[in-house]
Amino acid sequence: MNNKIIIINGPNLNLLGEREQSEYGSTTFEELKKICLNKSKDLGLIADFSQSNIEGEIVNMIQNSRKNFDGIIINAAAFTHTSIAIRDALSIFKKPIIELHISNIYKREEFRHKSLISDVVTGGIFGLGADGYILAIISMQKLLQNENQ
Ligand code: DQA
Repeated sequence: MNNKIIIINGPNLNLLGEREQSEYGSTTFEELKKICLNKSKDLGLIADFSQSNIEGEIVNMIQNSRKNFDGIIINAAAFTHTSIAIRDALSIFKKPIIELHISNIYKREEFRHKSLISDVVTGGIFGLGADGYILAIISMQKLLQNENQ
């Protein structure tokens, strides 16, 4: 059976392509969604690509993923640096999680250097632009394949 993954995007990522292109590039959110769904399909994954600006909605998405998905790729955006609630929800998800950031958060303002989720995820990708999503999908497919062996 095909593994199911969810790609969760946090606040302001719906404005990709419009917001700070020097940090996040020119790929729009809709383009990125298409790229991710196509790549997932190519790798035999069933993928959901979601976004919310609301912290509690992201907590709900993570909680619901326990039953509905085999892995989570998450760009929690600004909530990465502030949300204990998202961290706690991720801790309860006992399957692979990849943390993702389009920009290199360690090269930017000091408040972005601290991620509250890095130590509860399987691994992370940052600073590689929108391509990071493709790399995360490839890595997730490998993690799930190894689990199924
Ligand atoms: C981000 C980095 C965060 O610091 C920022 O708040 C974002 C996007 C990234 O993808 O580089 O909104 O997660």
